[in-house]
Amino acid sequence: MSFAFLRASVRRTALRASVPRAAPSSAPRVAFRKFSTPPPAPEAKSRSNTGLIVGVLVAVVFGGGGYYYATTSGDAETVLKSGVQAIKATTKFTPSQEDYQKVYNKIAEVMDDAGEYDDGSYGPVLLRLAWHASGTYDVASNTGGSNYATMRFAPESAHGANAGLDVARDVMEKIKAEFPWISYGDLWTLGGVAAVQEMAGPKIPWRPGRIDGFAEQATPDGRLPDATQGGAHLRAIFGRMGFNDQEIVALSGAHALGRCHANRSGFEGPWTFSPTTVTNDYFKLLFSESWVWKKWNGPKQLEDKKTKSLMMLPTDYVVVSDKGFKKFAQAYADDNELFFKDFSAVVAKLFELGVPTQQFVSSDPWTMKTLDEQKN
Ligand code: HEM
Repeated sequence: MSFAFLRASVRRTALRASVPRAAPSSAPRVAFRKFSTPPPAPEAKSRSNTGLIVGVLVAVVFGGGGYYYATTSGDAETVLKSGVQAIKATTKFTPSQEDYQKVYNKIAEVMDDAGEYDDGSYGPVLLRLAWHASGTYDVASNTGGSNYATMRFAPESAHGANAGLDVARDVMEKIKAEFPWISYGDLWTLGGVAAVQEMAGPKIPWRPGRIDGFAEQATPDGRLPDATQGGAHLRAIFGRMGFNDQEIVALSGAHALGRCHANRSGFEGPWTFSPTTVTNDYFKLLFSESWVWKKWNGPKQLEDKKTKSLMMLPTDYVVVSDKGFKKFAQAYADDNELFFKDFSAVVAKLFELGVPTQQFVSSDPWTMKTLDEQKN
């Protein structure tokens, strides 16, 4: 079933009107996968990386190697080179904001060139990639986050929570081939920025400087949220990243976009009628519709009583059933402008998790232009 007829009337949605999407029922069904496992104890901050550092320096000095390495502690003195120095040394090229805008533009074009994939856009899955690359951050041990793009490596690439993100990583490989000087962390987060902005969302302040890491820096399974859980779990997982209740609710509004896939998470269906447009509909629908447990041979999820075509994860419903969260959800349902303002700030914060400040090439984040803005 297509939701094209109900979508909000923004440019992208109009484009989508005639694009059929793969019928969910045709997707190969796999046994329900638990979305994540309990988080392990954070690693000790003082973990030594001396061997690695020496190895990398040897590679750089003698092999003209393409990698610089920063330790997992992220302390100022242990970061060997800033992101911009790494790029310079590797490629003898110092990219300007204009160069990054070219990468943004390419992502925006490729995102739209999705044919019959889902709702006709790679935007939602690119945003999910940027979020899963960043949301592994652990404040206590200062590990994880978007800096090293460790989802390129097994076993992180194969973590249950990351099922289906190979689609997004493959899309990004095409961009990387054209702009080999950009780090994966910068590329993936810029993809998240392009996804939000091109799908009619707010501007997401962003700046480059992330560096490519190594498999040793990959994060353990269980750092991303488990959709079957409740408020305590959400607070524990997002609290570990450094987010408060208001920020957790604002971030959840990302589920205005995209859909669940039975062959990825086990869950199925979109949250809103306009899955390629950023709106506050996720919050509006949570309040306006009657949500009942779906009767099906799959994990516990809710469906709207009226059309039975929308879904909510147990964690989505927590946003309106938990007192602490509900007041923010109500505010966002009532005021799209407020949602956009808070969503912009919290997504910008999310994408910078785990990146030492001195690595950024600019002290102030940039505002990338949309494709539409550049036409004028
Ligand atoms: C609150 C905790 C969260 C949980 C439990 C959760 C869980 C999920 C699940 C189960 C899926 C379906 C994956 C699939 O089957 O393809 C999904 C998709 C998605 N999530 Fe989340 N998520 C959470 C937070 C977030 C955040 C913070 C963002 C971004 C800021 C986000 C963005 C997305 C997007 C855009 C999709 C759609 C992907 C697509 O269409 O392929 N989610 N999420």
